[in-house]
Parts: sequence; structure tokens; C-alpha cells
Amino acid sequence: MSAAVSHELNQPLAAMKTYLAGARLLLQRDRPEEALSSFQRIDDLLERMGAITRQLKSYARKGSEAFEPVDTRAAVSTALALMEPQLKTRAVNIIRTLPNEPVMIMGDRLRLEQVIINLLRNALDATKMAANPTIEILLVAGDTVSIQIRDNGDGIENLDELFEPFYTTKQPGDGVGLGLAISSGIVNDLGGRLTARNAVDGGAIFEVQLPTLEQDVAAAE
Ligand SMILES: Nc1ncnc2c1ncn2[C@@H]1O[C@H](COP(=O)(O)OP(=O)(O)OP(=O)(O)O)[C@@H](O)[C@H]1O
Ligand SMILES: [Mg+2]
Repeated sequence: MSAAVSHELNQPLAAMKTYLAGARLLLQRDRPEEALSSFQRIDDLLERMGAITRQLKSYARKGSEAFEPVDTRAAVSTALALMEPQLKTRAVNIIRTLPNEPVMIMGDRLRLEQVIINLLRNALDATKMAANPTIEILLVAGDTVSIQIRDNGDGIENLDELFEPFYTTKQPGDGVGLGLAISSGIVNDLGGRLTARNAVDGGAIFEVQLPTLEQDVAAAE
């Protein structure tokens, strides 16, 4: 992923230098209108680089020594709370199904929350055109912990490229295509996996599967 990332950051940097040199020239020749449009391009590129670095920050490695017992129910609730402002701006039904007992895993709470937020943001985008936009969050405890996020959008267009860095179907400014690549990296680091499929009745299903923390270990904490 790092080669792809450095290309994606170096390319706009080079482009910005070109636009900047162009703008300087245009100003010297007293053509401020044209210079302004160069500045706008630079602004767009800065915006894109900002989006990339924001995503990458959430992936800053802490290593497994920072792992602690985490109740995944709390991670789901916190992620939903953090998404509240975005969720409020849209008339979307949120159906949350959580067990009554703690569902423990060993991991990094903040990064698990980041994964859930990325999946919720995608689900929110996917239901933009839906007649009755609905997002379901289902947490199931068992041999493995399963967190499912389902939406009633149009479903996934390309299952093969979904997790590739910089694969996006969104407009520039709406997405850079790092959310899922980063999320699957985080889930792998937690010893689990992130999978995606289309539901038979339409919409997408994303599933985070994580190893369950043995109860006796959790009780010893
Ligand atoms: N719930 C979903 N329903 C349908 N398609 C989806 C869904 N989630 C992701 N996708 C597809 O996968 C692509 C990649 O998703 P990803 O989260 O990696 O990047 P992004 O959302 O486009 O941008 P970013 O997350 O970096 O802001 C999306 O552009 C979209 O085409
Ligand atoms: Mg995304």
C-alpha cells in the first residue's frame, strides 16, 4: 500500500508546483483571473491530500502490545455517537441489534471504532438515493465476534477491487478510496477479517469477524 500512497501524494505535489509556477507567471503578466483558476486547482489538490492524510492517520500503528479487552458493543455505540452529526442531516433509519451481555475481543478500541465509522460512512453514502434509507448494525457473539453493517443502497459494483487502495466510485472530494483498504488492514491486525457481499434482496453487507476473547481472561482483568 505504501508505494500506492506515496504515488498518490507525490503526483498532486508535482502538479501543485506546476500550477504555482503558472500562477506566478500569470500574475507577472497581469492576468489575475487566470491566476485565480490556478489557485483553485491548487486548493482542490490540497483538499485531496488532506483527505488522504486524514485517512492514513487513523492507521498509525500502535502494535499489539497496546491491545486490551474491548467490549465491541461499546465500540459500536461510540462509533454511532461519533457519526450522529452526519446521521442527523439525513432521514436514515438506524436499526441496532446488540446482545445484552458484553461481547469481548482483544484489541485497540479506537481503531475498531474507526473501522465501524468507515463502514457507516460508506453505508450512509450508499443509501443516498434509497427510497427508505436504512442501515442495520448487527452484533453477534459466538466462536467469533461478528459485526455486520447492512444497507439498502444499490449494492457493491465491483467486489474484486473493493479493498484496493484508491479504488473509489465517488466524486473527487467525496472519497479517495482508502476507507476500506485501511479498515481491512486494521481488522487483519486485530487477527480478524473484513468481508463484503451483496444481499439477495439488494444492498451491501459488510462483516467484521474477530476472535472472541475467552471470558475467563476477560474476568481476570
Ligand atoms: N455500502 C456500500 N455499498 C455499495 N458500494 C460500496 C459500499 N461501501 C463501499 N462501496 C464501494 O467501495 C468503494 C471504496 O470504498 P472506500 O470506503 O474504500 O472508499 P471511498 O468511500 O470511496 O472513499 P474514502 O473512504 O477514502 O472516503 C466506494 O467508492 C464504493 O464504490
Ligand atoms: Mg469510504
